[in-house]
Order: sequence, then structure tokens, then C-alpha cells
Amino acid sequence: METEILKVDNLKSNYKYIEKAADLIRKDELVAIPTETVYGLGANGLSSEACKKIFEVKGRPQDNPLILHISEIGELDNLILELPEDVKILLENLWPGPLTVIFNKSKIVPLVVTAGGKTVAIRMPSHIVARKIIKASKVPVAAPSANISGRPSPTTANDVYEDLKGKIPLIIDGGQSSIGIESTVLDVTEKPYTILRPGFYDKDDLEEYLAEVVYDNSLLSKDIIPKSPGQKYKHYAPKASMEVIIGDNKGVKDYINNYSKNTNRKIAYLLFEENSSVLKEHDIFLSLGSKDRLNEMAHNLFRNLRLADKLKVEHIICEGIEEKGIGIGIMNRLKKSSSYNIRRV
Ligand code: TXA
Ligand code: MG
Repeated sequence: METEILKVDNLKSNYKYIEKAADLIRKDELVAIPTETVYGLGANGLSSEACKKIFEVKGRPQDNPLILHISEIGELDNLILELPEDVKILLENLWPGPLTVIFNKSKIVPLVVTAGGKTVAIRMPSHIVARKIIKASKVPVAAPSANISGRPSPTTANDVYEDLKGKIPLIIDGGQSSIGIESTVLDVTEKPYTILRPGFYDKDDLEEYLAEVVYDNSLLSKDIIPKSPGQKYKHYAPKASMEVIIGDNKGVKDYINNYSKNTNRKIAYLLFEENSSVLKEHDIFLSLGSKDRLNEMAHNLFRNLRLADKLKVEHIICEGIEEKGIGIGIMNRLKKSSSYNIRRV
């Protein structure tokens, strides 16, 4: 199958591309769509046939449920059993945006979407192109990240093309995803409401609107390196081996200095600007931006991991950060992409 890429940079003149994407979705075909977090692999979320294709194309384990994407709050009613008043207020404030909420599902949600379960994940993205496509397709759009399972999530149309060319008919190019890591996933089917996946919003952001929010136990372990990491954690992973180093500027610089003296492997260094002076001219430096602007680190994180692979490096050394705010979401991704190879320096 030929994979077409259509760039939507002007909603008025490119509306035909939106129509084309929506049309394919209505016909149970897959279309990659831009969102503010990462690109999604979209399908008709009310069609089991269409959703099955998502699992095939991604090589996704059958027991991993999908998120349904909507374009207006009103579309929630048909998909869920109840909307608690406090959650309604939360959504009025944080939707559209990088927040996914888990509800008890209604009958019309196919079991392939929920991996057989009684709950369904729903998100209203803020990316205008995504919302236009969802609205035009007139169905909720099931969309996981548009990568091959296990690879870093795609934040550009080109990243999607790398992974899925020849497997899907259309990629809509809406520019680089502004946030760069996936949405915060919040389960509101039981109290206390629980964050299952950290993202742009952290617990404090959600507690602006909700009385109590907790992190799922599996995210909480203070001990960064779990006792048995195991292959099942491998996720967001580049082809090269990877380690994450956490320390103050001196600690990081000393470590890198020492490391580069004692290796002849091809290394990509993902460092903050503050520490880049430690590198030599021929070293491969991929900038994480400034330590003072962690949104930039998130914005380019997966892109840097993919870039390192393209440069065919053997090993990646990436600076880590304190687990606060968006740093919790970033460290969650880094732990998984490095298979918990984290070192304090
Ligand atoms: O930002 C995002 O959320 C992106 C964009 C495309 O919207 N999507 C995304 O989808 O990251 P995916 O499939 O890569 O990750 C969805 C996460 C998975 O960890 C999945 O296990 C969880 O949400 N999830 C989905 N439905 C669930 C449910 N009913 N209960 C618990 N977790 C669920
Ligand atoms: Mg994913």
C-alpha cells in the first residue's frame, strides 16, 4: 500500500485533506493524525474491524486498551455510564488538552477498544487538526501513539512514516507535536482518583479541581531501579543501548569527561545546554534545552531518541531530572526507554 502524507498548515485551503482523512476513518481504514502530545494512529472507535487493524499494524499486545478521542464534551455521554460532577468541572477546565480520563464504558464501545474490560479511556485533544478530523468523521476516533509497539512515540509525520510506511494509506502532517510526551491518564472509576500514566499534568495540576488524586503504586517507588526490571518494561526504546545520569552540573560533567576518555564506542550525548561545554567538537550532542525549561526537554525527547538511532550510535547517555511536575512524566519515559538503567553521578 502507498502511504500518502498530506500537510495541513492552513485549515481553509487544506479542508479537503481533513475530509479525506475523515472519509478513510469512516470506511474503517487507518489514518495517522497529529495531536499536541504525540501522533496518533486513528481508526473508527465504534468499529471492531477498524480497531483490530490498529493492533495488527502496531504489533500491539491485545491486552493493551485504546484511547477514544472526541471533539466536544457532548460526545462523552454516549460512551460512558456516568460523569461525576467534580470530573465534569475538571474537564471543563483541562479539555481540550493532554489529559485522558478512564470511565465505565457504555454498551456501544467495542470490547476490542477496552481490551475486554469494563472501562474506557477518553481524551479530547487540543490540536485543532485532530479535532477537525474527529468531528468530520462523526465517530470517536480510537488512537494509540502511531509507532511500532516498543519504539519511541512519533512527534512528527516523518517519524510516523519511518515506522508505518506501506502499512497505512494516509498520514496527516500537522507539524511537530507541541508537548512531545503522551497525555496524563487519570482513572476516575474509583476513589481516590488515580494517575495511571504521568504526563504534562501532574497530581498538583489535577488537584486544582479535584479533592484528592494519587499516583498508581507502580509509579511511586522511591527506589528508581525496581528489583526486577524485566523485559516487559522495555518501551519507548531506541535501538542503541541507553543510560540515564542524574546529578548536579559538576557531577554530570565529571562523569561525561571520564566516560568519553575511556570508550571508543559511538555515543550520542543528550545533555542540557548548561553542560554541553564538556563535549569535544566531534562528539554527538543532542540538546535537551535548558534545565529551566523542562517543557523543551519533553518537546524534543522522543525526537532526540529517534535521531540518535538515525545517526547509528551504539550508546545513548541522557541527562535525567528530578521527579517534579512534568519531570515525573519525562522520567517515567526515560526509565522505560533505558530499561531502568539509571545512575546518580
Ligand atoms: O497522548 C496520548 O494519550 C496519545 C495521543 C495519540 O492521544 N495516545 C497514546 O495512546 O499515548 P497509547 O495507546 O500509546 O497509550 C494509551 C495508554 C496505555 O498505557 C493504555 O494502557 C492506557 O492508556 N489505557 C487505555 N485504556 C485504558 C483503560 N480502559 N484502563 C486503563 N488504562 C488504559
Ligand atoms: Mg504508545
